[in-house]
Amino acid sequence: MKAIARAYANFALIKYWGKKDELLKLPVQSSLSFTVDEFYTDMTVTFKDNLKKDVLYIDELLITDKKYTRIHNFMNIVRQRYKIDKYAIIESSSNVHIGAGLASSASSFAALAYAVNLALNLKLSKKELSILARLGSGSASRSIHGGFSLWKAGTDETSYATSLKIDWPEFRMIAVIVNDNEKKIGSSEAMKASLNSPFYDAYVKQSKNDLKAMQNALKEKDIYKVGDIAERNALLMHSTLLPLDLWYFLPDTIKIMNEVKKLRENNIPVYFTMDAGPNVKLITTQEYLNAITSHFKEYPLIVLKEGKAVYGKRIS
Ligand code: PMV
Repeated sequence: MKAIARAYANFALIKYWGKKDELLKLPVQSSLSFTVDEFYTDMTVTFKDNLKKDVLYIDELLITDKKYTRIHNFMNIVRQRYKIDKYAIIESSSNVHIGAGLASSASSFAALAYAVNLALNLKLSKKELSILARLGSGSASRSIHGGFSLWKAGTDETSYATSLKIDWPEFRMIAVIVNDNEKKIGSSEAMKASLNSPFYDAYVKQSKNDLKAMQNALKEKDIYKVGDIAERNALLMHSTLLPLDLWYFLPDTIKIMNEVKKLRENNIPVYFTMDAGPNVKLITTQEYLNAITSHFKEYPLIVLKEGKAVYGKRIS
């Protein structure tokens, strides 16, 4: 009853921001993302007869803080859903900095859902896997798939992500690392507060239009449209936080945003998006990479291509 799985992080071009059901992690609006190749999490899960509780190791360190509680709560959902009475040893290792707005929870819970599926021989479909991953972290529902995926808001068993099957090998994101420390305000807490933001309803309304426009722009592989819609969608998401004193932006975040605008004035199609942290992800295509990376030499940069769907193997 042991398996290992790898899942890649994803970054949203149309954001998930706000839950209509906290427990079931049902989003207020549908979202759309790109699974990337360079950020991933490996998860090993071993169910054992003689354990009295779950045990969690992250990068070989025994974890007992709130990260444990989150994983343990997820494992309780697994036990209840699939009528299992065993606890497990969960070993996670990730090249993503946890809690820095670099989608570590997406890759972690997608990998965990898949490892559980293999270890217990559940034979879950992609739909069932996406629903299970969602119950750990909303954005993890999308990391079940490679490339572009769409998570329809839905209601419980209809709230899951599907692959958009867009073949665009030249599409790139570039992570610009401003600060990779663990953030002070987690995404769950901030998105909950946003529901009371005076800008929240406007954001949700616009997001519905953005989603339709984004799907068309992706079909056309139009980087100008894709980048423009994604950038405005991210800014609108972050605008909900501004009046609540909860913004994630650091001075370098704003500096990079301004530099991106300048590059566009020089006819380089590059756009930005930010998640629950100060780091910036740039959106562009292969042909403009050199012009962009040479402009941001002072920051660690990670060029991101399309990442694969979750995968793994059963060990015993
Ligand atoms: O799944 P969570 O709770 O980590 O929330 C992710 C929220 C954002 O990354 C900010 C947006 C998104 O759609 O990924």
